[in-house]
Amino acid sequence: DKNELILAIETSCDETAAAVVQGGTKLLSNVVATQMDIHQKFGGVVPEVASRHHIEQITVVMEQALTEADVTMEDIDAVAVTEGPGLVGALLVGVNAAKALAYAHGKPVIGVHHIAGHIYANRLEQEFEFPLMSLVVSGGHTELIYMEEHGEYEIIGETRDDAAGEAYDKVAKALSLPYPGGPQIDRLAQEGKDTYNFPRSYLEEGSYDFSFSGLKTAVINKLHHLRQKGEEIDVENVATSFQESVIDVLVDKTYEAAMDYGVKQLIVAGGVSANKTLRARMDQRFADTDVELAIPPLYLCTDNAAMIGAAASVEYHRQNYASLNLNANPGLMM
Ligand code: KG4
Ligand code: ZN
Repeated sequence: DKNELILAIETSCDETAAAVVQGGTKLLSNVVATQMDIHQKFGGVVPEVASRHHIEQITVVMEQALTEADVTMEDIDAVAVTEGPGLVGALLVGVNAAKALAYAHGKPVIGVHHIAGHIYANRLEQEFEFPLMSLVVSGGHTELIYMEEHGEYEIIGETRDDAAGEAYDKVAKALSLPYPGGPQIDRLAQEGKDTYNFPRSYLEEGSYDFSFSGLKTAVINKLHHLRQKGEEIDVENVATSFQESVIDVLVDKTYEAAMDYGVKQLIVAGGVSANKTLRARMDQRFADTDVELAIPPLYLCTDNAAMIGAAASVEYHRQNYASLNLNANPGLMM
């Protein structure tokens, strides 16, 4: 059955999400209960608080996803859930809910890697063209992943320290902006100029790895220095200067990787792919190439369960089902 219905669940961080996806490509419902306003008070995600809110929301969100898709558990072919990576207590809520529901209704469970989900968010918009390259940029990950076929992932480059989104969040915090900092910096950077000339880290020649902690530290030190001297800080220009450094490296390395591997498609995924300037720069850089650029619409960039359902479809057709021993795995490898 190519049109299988999957109920998907995602609780790896601070969004409690459930969705119904048909045949890995069609979104029937997509419910996201965000905890952003709660964590904003603490300036970041507090794991214990996240787990507690997932427990409160999970049943409501699952039921709403079924109702909005106009289906019941009887119509569902499998239950998919993010098994990792992420916060262990948060992941556990989703994994246990998925197992309980699947067991009660006699349906198989499918464990999904969160990053595979981010990549497959794009399949809800357009079909994959192999071989493809994916740049995954989120709060926890910055990776270049090469794929020759569905469900096969080869990480060819990754960050050696901070993830891109993490650098955004930490720089935003140093500028006293609310959590999460990415969208704040994105907005401010539209108004500024690259006047501070922060470093761009390319690492060794030919490496597809990334490093953002040097840049983050340079920005924080600069702010500290300006404050000490009582000099004015141009927040818009700091935001633009920081963002230009991040985006130059992301676009250059991704372009190089896409060319070296001769891919047909480039997918940009993860929360940071919501960034306006990153989207525009990728567009420009790939405009005159044969590589088709795919970036999901904003609501599929940040964490959601639709992407987990899309990635799970591939495993469903391979009958790659998990047992009821499926456990949350905060450090799950791809
Ligand atoms: O994928 P995601 O929702 O969660 C993780 O799996 O980490 O990504 C969240 C990250 C945060 O660091 C957030 O600041 C960043 O994505 N982000 C952005 C933008 N929107 C979200 N970064 C830059 N510009 C944005 N517009
Ligand atoms: Zn994510």
